[in-house]
Amino acid sequence: MNFLEERILKDGVVKEGNVLKVDSFLNHQMDIELFDQMGEEFKRRFEGKNINKILTIEASGIGIACVVARHFGVPVVFAKKSKSINIDGDMYIAEVESFTHKTKNQVIVSKKFLNEDDHVLLIDDFLANGCALQGMISIVEQAGGTVEGIGIAIEKGFQIGGQVIRNLGYHLESLAIVDGMNAEDGSVEFRVYDEDK
Ligand code: G4P
Repeated sequence: MNFLEERILKDGVVKEGNVLKVDSFLNHQMDIELFDQMGEEFKRRFEGKNINKILTIEASGIGIACVVARHFGVPVVFAKKSKSINIDGDMYIAEVESFTHKTKNQVIVSKKFLNEDDHVLLIDDFLANGCALQGMISIVEQAGGTVEGIGIAIEKGFQIGGQVIRNLGYHLESLAIVDGMNAEDGSVEFRVYDEDK
């Protein structure tokens, strides 16, 4: 079991509806030492990749991305959620649907901060249905840049996102893959790998 899985077992709370609350260390109160370990681990997993920028999405991805970026020595750009219909031509725009919240957002990134020379690592806290990631991938594509890899803290392995993204051929690394959870006894089941990654 790795450091993030251990922390999920210690401080994560399983709620009804397959929701894992991790707000005491990941997406409300933030444990920066933990984020630092995550940065070190992503650096190891994406060793040798030519990465010059990190792209994430507001809000919860930003803190993690900033700490991870210290390990790569690159800037962070975050996609902004916008309800505005008056977006000028200086922005890349993607539509992101949230299955959890049943909302649709446009996410935008200024053309000033992403272009065809960029080799991008995408970072986010959760991967569930993959809509946020698809939006970020679309934005990098619009810019003509390259997605070098995708780093996720917690993947919900029983939702479709991880499979879709891997089938598209992206190098996706999730630090913890939750394959099941039970709100009654609070248990969390992680995907087990044959070899130590
Ligand atoms: P998707 O982006 O993978 O398609 O995710 P989905 O629409 O299913 O999830 C919507 C939001 O709910 C995302 O945050 C995602 O991070 C979060 N989420 C999904 N499953 C869980 C879970 O089990 N526990 C927690 N704590 N969050 C979960 P968001 O609202 O888009 O962004 P943010 O503003 O919170 O960062």
